[in-house]
Amino acid sequence: MDGMTMKVAEVEPSPPARLHPLPLRLMHWINAAAMLIMIASGWKIYNDEVIFGWLHVPDAITLGKYAQHALQWHFFGMWVIALNGLAYLIYGIVTGRFRRKLFPIWPHEVLATVRDALTFRLRHDDLTHYNAVQRVLYVGIILVGIVVVLSGLAIWKPVQLSGLLVLFYDFQTARLVHFLCMAAIVLFLAVHVALALLVPRSLLAMLTGGPRVDPASSHSAAMPAE
Ligand code: HEM
Repeated sequence: MDGMTMKVAEVEPSPPARLHPLPLRLMHWINAAAMLIMIASGWKIYNDEVIFGWLHVPDAITLGKYAQHALQWHFFGMWVIALNGLAYLIYGIVTGRFRRKLFPIWPHEVLATVRDALTFRLRHDDLTHYNAVQRVLYVGIILVGIVVVLSGLAIWKPVQLSGLLVLFYDFQTARLVHFLCMAAIVLFLAVHVALALLVPRSLLAMLTGGPRVDPASSHSAAMPAE
């Protein structure tokens, strides 16, 4: 390589990253699979000792032959969710993705987006920009994810982790918080999956990476996908 070629190779900028870079996609889909395991096995464990007498989950949509077996699935999923979730949090903070894509959230923008959605004027043509409602939902579900793991740890080891347990008041309250987080995640999933199916381009982008974007800009700088 002569001096000139070396100079060109040195200064040539690397191509802009995909909208959803590979590590993010891997973490998202690992989380989705682990979350389904957690929900279905959690329902089996719940059935063994219900919180609400009127609420039993049909066996057909639970995971595990009996409660102890479901608990093994739940612990397996727990390690995947906790480690993968931690990696996602570190990635989101260190790369600046959270700052660029999930913030700021302005209440007037949330209200305007809800108004647009209710009057069927919400546009989905710019995949590179999360609207205010998406931002609220994504930040919300990340926080719920943190609380569900913490409340789960507190009811798993109430004696060893008694300091964590008191954050939730007592064992029964921690159990209720864990249950309510599950309900919030199931509700989020219903809306999230429905929207992904309604806007298939967004689903394709979460699978293949989507268009290449200028990382300095949070949206609208999309370049055509190759
Ligand atoms: C089969 C289930 C799932 C499907 C089909 C799905 C689909 C998608 C799609 C298409 C996106 C791209 C965002 C967009 O353009 O609006 C996305 C992003 C996201 N999803 Fe999911 N998802 C699933 C499960 C989950 C679960 C279980 C969670 C968490 C509990 C989750 C949390 C998120 C978050 C936080 C983002 C934003 C990621 C970022 O940009 O940093 N998803 N999902």
